[in-house]
Amino acid sequence: MNNKPHNKKLDQLESHATSSENTRLTSNQGLRINNNQDSLKAGNRGPTLMEDFFFREKMTHFDHERIPERVVHARGSGAHGVFKLNKSLEKYTKAGFLTEVGKETPVFVRFSTVAGNRGSTDLARDVRGFAVKFYTDEGNYDLVANNIPVFFIQDAIKFPDLVHAVKPEPHNEIPQAQSAHDTFWDFISLMPESMHMIMWLMSDRSIPRSYSRMEGFGVHSFKFINNEGRMHFVKFHFKPKLGVHSVAWDEAQRISGVDPDFHKRDLWESIENGMFPEWDFGVQLIPEEDEDKFDFDLLDPTKIVPEEEVPVELVGTLTLNRNPDNFFAETEQIAFHPGHIVPGIDFSKDPLLQGRLFSYTDTQLIRLGGPNFHEIPINRSVKTVHNNQRDGYMRQQINKGKVSYEPNSIGGGCPFQSMMSEGGYVSHQERVSGPKVRQRSESFVDHYSQAKLFYNSQSDYEKMHLQNALIFELSKVTVPAVRERMVGQLNFIDKALAQKVAAEVGVEVKELEFPNQSLPADSNHQ
Ligand code: HEM
Repeated sequence: MNNKPHNKKLDQLESHATSSENTRLTSNQGLRINNNQDSLKAGNRGPTLMEDFFFREKMTHFDHERIPERVVHARGSGAHGVFKLNKSLEKYTKAGFLTEVGKETPVFVRFSTVAGNRGSTDLARDVRGFAVKFYTDEGNYDLVANNIPVFFIQDAIKFPDLVHAVKPEPHNEIPQAQSAHDTFWDFISLMPESMHMIMWLMSDRSIPRSYSRMEGFGVHSFKFINNEGRMHFVKFHFKPKLGVHSVAWDEAQRISGVDPDFHKRDLWESIENGMFPEWDFGVQLIPEEDEDKFDFDLLDPTKIVPEEEVPVELVGTLTLNRNPDNFFAETEQIAFHPGHIVPGIDFSKDPLLQGRLFSYTDTQLIRLGGPNFHEIPINRSVKTVHNNQRDGYMRQQINKGKVSYEPNSIGGGCPFQSMMSEGGYVSHQERVSGPKVRQRSESFVDHYSQAKLFYNSQSDYEKMHLQNALIFELSKVTVPAVRERMVGQLNFIDKALAQKVAAEVGVEVKELEFPNQSLPADSNHQ
């Protein structure tokens, strides 16, 4: 073992690692190869013979090297690290990695941009993903977070529309993530619920100086459940020890031109040089009985819980201390899922979160080629997996015995479910009832108060950056009605901001016909 940091997960990965130093080339069947320069030909000048099994194997493997990139968050950088608990949360949750002070849990973290493809620039104005896989003793726990604490939409059914609007336009694949376009602003101007997120996105927060200088937020309200079954809502935070830093737009443009891998390189080099990026991990805790105490709905992912009302309690430290050995095997093949939880943590009814619970495995089934991607080394739990799932493409585990069902009376190598007293996952017994309806709760309807709050929290130069970002973006929109509608939205947030942007993008500020509420059901607005 070298002197790089190691832990349970890294030791497990090491058992899959291969080094080819001082070895001789072989085929995939282990046959030694003594000519890797020439294909097998009939005569010196060919043609190449079909029987050249070494050529065929080498070329076939190459032809299949690429897998689909992630449908969102395609561009990413990852690192191994450790989460250390400094303060027990036993009063609130029974999750082992959050109760035993001093406990160290191995993690893998993947940072990403959202809209750009795998080869796009790190410096795009975009949300950043901040996904953390905790390899806990109770199974994998994924906190699939972003660097902005709210989201564009309130209901997962709008996610495909949002992504279709933000991705390059389908007819010509223009533009890439860093410039504005008609489809994005058309959609956004019709979605009042996105205004809080838009304020964050147009602010300096969306062009971080480095990954180690940005915050991470779980966004949704999750649930903590303690040993007595008592529930608290919880919001998760990562706060960078180096503080939050951004670059200005013109700096971002220049850096993008010179070094589009700026963030990737910074993360890699900081870790190689022993300057390990660190974050405080914190929680905002809200007792179940206080659920209705706020002037917004805790289930609404377009809202923050103001830290003045519920302070963030710092309880742990996240440190990234080792680069991956192989980008594809680790950063690319890792599969995060907000549904990977451990006892003591549960989901809230947030309709965005509920939809996410479906989407991740569904996409990974195609991205990673079938139902056995949990067996890929980076995705394996540090606990051995025992169940009656069998077969499927690329199965690695060799399950012994003749029984793969439960209940059974024969045994034969089949695992049995635990007794309740032995632990295991128990869902929070929240009472749910109601008519089946396709509608939004009235409590989700205020789309502008927190957008205003955010805008007003900015210093003068930050407001100027935000205003300039809007002017830059909207000046690229070719449809005047979209610019006008967007300015109408800004008018609900700050009148001076709307006036200034309107003047610069050549439209007038007009009253919108659907103020301060979600779109009417029949809207095909033009
Ligand atoms: C990645 C869906 C909202 C954070 C992804 C992926 C999908 C997806 C399909 C690609 C996964 C893969 O290929 O492995 C959705 C849906 C959402 C949603 C349907 C809403 C309905 C969010 C929110 C956050 C978030 C609110 C942050 C709190 C991330 C991150 C990744 C990701 C960080 C990248 C994970 C990685 O690095 O592999 N999302 N997402 N997503 N999502 Fe979401």
